[in-house]
Amino acid sequence: MTPLIGASLPRPDALGKVTGATCYPADLVRPGMLHLQVVFAHRPHARILSLNTSAALQHPGVVAVLTAADVPFNAFGLIDADQPVLCEDVVRFTGDKVALVIAETKQKALEGARLVDVTYEDLPAVTDPYVALKPDAPLVHASLSTNQLLHFPLRKGDAARAMADADIVLEETFTTSWQEHAFLQPEAGIAYLDEQQRVVIETAGQWLHEDRRQIAQILQLPEDQVIIRYAAIGGAFGGREDLSMQHLLALACWKLRRQVALVWTREESIIAHHKRHPFRIHCRWGARSDGTITAVEAELVADGGAYASTSAEVVKAATLFASGCYEVPNITADGYAVYTNNVPCGAFRGFGSPQAQFASEIMVTRLAHALGIDPVEMRRRNLYREGSIEPTQHPLPAGVSALAVLERCVEEVRTRWGDERAKQQDQAAYVRRGVGIACGIKNIGYSFGFPEQATATVRVFGNAEVERAEVLIGAADVGQGAHLILRQIAAEVLGLPLEQVRMICDDSYVVPNAGSASASRMTLMGGRAVRDSAMAARKKWSMTDDFQTQATIQYRPPTTTSLDRTTHTAVPNYCYAYTAQAVEVEVNTLTGQVRVLSIISVHDVGKAMNIQQVEGQIEGCLAQALGYALIEDFRVRDGHVLTPHLSTYLLPTILDMPTDVVPVVLELADPNGPFGARGVAELPLVAFAPAVASAIHEATGVWLYQLPMTPERVLAAIESAGGDQRILTQFVTNKGTCNGIVLLNQFGHIDSE
Ligand code: MOS
Repeated sequence: MTPLIGASLPRPDALGKVTGATCYPADLVRPGMLHLQVVFAHRPHARILSLNTSAALQHPGVVAVLTAADVPFNAFGLIDADQPVLCEDVVRFTGDKVALVIAETKQKALEGARLVDVTYEDLPAVTDPYVALKPDAPLVHASLSTNQLLHFPLRKGDAARAMADADIVLEETFTTSWQEHAFLQPEAGIAYLDEQQRVVIETAGQWLHEDRRQIAQILQLPEDQVIIRYAAIGGAFGGREDLSMQHLLALACWKLRRQVALVWTREESIIAHHKRHPFRIHCRWGARSDGTITAVEAELVADGGAYASTSAEVVKAATLFASGCYEVPNITADGYAVYTNNVPCGAFRGFGSPQAQFASEIMVTRLAHALGIDPVEMRRRNLYREGSIEPTQHPLPAGVSALAVLERCVEEVRTRWGDERAKQQDQAAYVRRGVGIACGIKNIGYSFGFPEQATATVRVFGNAEVERAEVLIGAADVGQGAHLILRQIAAEVLGLPLEQVRMICDDSYVVPNAGSASASRMTLMGGRAVRDSAMAARKKWSMTDDFQTQATIQYRPPTTTSLDRTTHTAVPNYCYAYTAQAVEVEVNTLTGQVRVLSIISVHDVGKAMNIQQVEGQIEGCLAQALGYALIEDFRVRDGHVLTPHLSTYLLPTILDMPTDVVPVVLELADPNGPFGARGVAELPLVAFAPAVASAIHEATGVWLYQLPMTPERVLAAIESAGGDQRILTQFVTNKGTCNGIVLLNQFGHIDSE
């Protein structure tokens, strides 16, 4: 039999998805179900003075209106249970929920929601994390004495002294913005009671057992009285890590003992679910004249919004990566997660790494320029190697491939772009090309002592030989193809054709807990659990005469630890993946528009279980990375989301993506991964924005320190650097031929003729 591991087997779910046959949560809604409508606060911070539901209740078709008083345990959250299901006294962001209207039809529910009469007293809103940290700032959570959710201090060596001794010190402030997950399928689902009166919620998510834990707590039920089932999931990217509306379905169903349905609009999805954190990163980097980086000082402040979500974990990760993927002997890094009255922020592909490494990668390139060293050579001298010590004073887990990944990227650039770059000058004077390169690191799996495990059960059936198998694992396939990967692993271990392996993954009542489809971890963690269980089941089967045997194995990776606040030590992670990317861009210096022409994206994935899927992950993630770097401009003013539609929150389309995208996959095994696999899902987002920034710098001479790098910002940077001198020169010498072209003059104003 040809090996299944590594084979580009087709996705069994692909046909249904392209023909529309696949059942997503919104497709589960059936006639006769009741419909929910959330009454949102639509104000950033206010006290609820009164809440009158009688007009809504009298509206024909309205069955019930639920408020805080109807919630058995009115607090939830992935890390801290600091978020009310329905607000009782105070609302803390515009997407907070104050009531739930349940009616015979969606229209009636909507009409009823408009009749819910809430009187508010607006409270001072704090929407800037720096203001929120001031001692006299209004408190987002009055029960806490501060808006500071987390201060995370990393200390290694003596950064102040090393900075004073450095041959060169550069200092800069970076700003990143929110990002909306914009998955294809907005939040939706149904809930009903089964014949044993258990609450069943059919929806989408990233972790069956965690959704179940939180919902059982809200309803004050034993966990086995709550069943979560995932339908097909239309993307997640971290945006389904937190409960958004699944618990509202559960609550309504439990209270009314009826079947209920809720399908959010895009606007509801955008205002109500968490976002990627905006960060402000202020840093200083010191180096010796030979290019050795000796010191990093960084302060990273993240706007966590109104509720904790995973802010603390995101900030820990960002702080750890403040020095990028470089071994720096002296580090002082302080991360802060701050409550504000903005939309809550949480998990989003990359989980703090893209923000931190936007800053660190630009700093490394700038140091190289300042020292007259090639930016690639600068990286070679400082990159993490086997045995390098992390900012938490602990050696990296074995299998450090950062340098090999960079060298491959350099080689690909040389062979693919080497000659072409010479031909590129034949274009309008105001169109400039540049190439940028950046490296990145991202943990695979949970960090800093967060409990980590994955469990799978494998059943084998057969007389003389194993004939078929069933794999039971609570692993969400959010669209990334996890179920096929896990199936390939089981088939490979058991020596079965793929068709003889049945996957059972989407019902919390029948499958064991494999943890979340997040942190790029499911291939490593879920895959390892499936591999180990399949091996155990096969062995057990071979030792008995039974037709059917099964084994359940829980896999636990090497332990990580939380930060010791006295010694500043920790084992932050058990596995990393490494990336290096090169991009070529074209900058229009008249409009500020940046077009990405070519991308080389190199990844050490440990082992590609299905190369087509790995390449698909890379290409898809690059589109999201391009949006993050250049296009996606989530705007919030005084707590109000100004971009609640996809007509105002612009996403990259296929026309924004270059046709020249080269995913390069290296397979440098991780010692713990199944068949050596690490992970890939988040990696293409980590180094892309700084690579683009470097390319823009090469093209124009200006640095952008703020994301997204919109045309306005690119133009402003060119203007503040004195305008595009080359165009001005051409304008003066060829004045007669420039009719109708808009030009920048050296004062940064637009001239036209
Ligand atoms: Mo993720 S941001 O690890 O779902």
